[in-house]
Amino acid sequence: MRGNKLIILVSLILIALPAAAFAMPWTMDMFDQPSHKAQEEPYPAIPDGSVPTNADPVIKDRGAAARLKNPVPTSDASIMRGKERYETFCLICHGATGVGDGPVGQKYVTPADLSDDYVQSKPDGDIFYTIKYGGLAIMPSHGDSVAPEDRWHIINYIKHELKQKKSK
Ligand code: HEC
Repeated sequence: MRGNKLIILVSLILIALPAAAFAMPWTMDMFDQPSHKAQEEPYPAIPDGSVPTNADPVIKDRGAAARLKNPVPTSDASIMRGKERYETFCLICHGATGVGDGPVGQKYVTPADLSDDYVQSKPDGDIFYTIKYGGLAIMPSHGDSVAPEDRWHIINYIKHELKQKKSK
């Protein structure tokens, strides 16, 4: 009887393991690729000299990131887009004014205060690196969820709106 239970338990674990592996995001890695699928029109040829606008290069380290120049000028449109993305991905921890009082931030490790000089004086590229790869200690990376251009919009928003809110 005991042996039976053990066999059942081991079988259940073996069945559950692939399910857990499939739940990971990498299961889509091979599916999401530029090849066209059955019944699908092939992609039109890419014109010569095109430059991808959504390129997300690997950045060696924080030092290299700090030298990146923010390619997105601060405009009302950029700040609005940044606000929308910030409220989607960052507010939950960093809070509406960036001070770290979001609903998760209050229960999690206290997030950095984005309105403070410590963050405000960082080069844009350094913050880009934090969004892409995560914080210095525990903040999760958002490289998969926040598109490269949106990271710059968020940075424009943080530097122009969250700082102002504090000084008011
Ligand atoms: C799950 C909670 C959480 C989310 C979501 C989150 N952060 Fe953070 N963030 C933290 C915590 C905690 C820290 C401080 C510890 C660390 O650096 O890991 C931090 C630190 C930072 C820092 C300072 C890093 C440094 O150089 O010291 C920046 C900048 C930052 N976050 C920006 C963002 C932006 C922008 C977003 C949205 C794209 C975001 N965070 C989303 C929790 C979060």
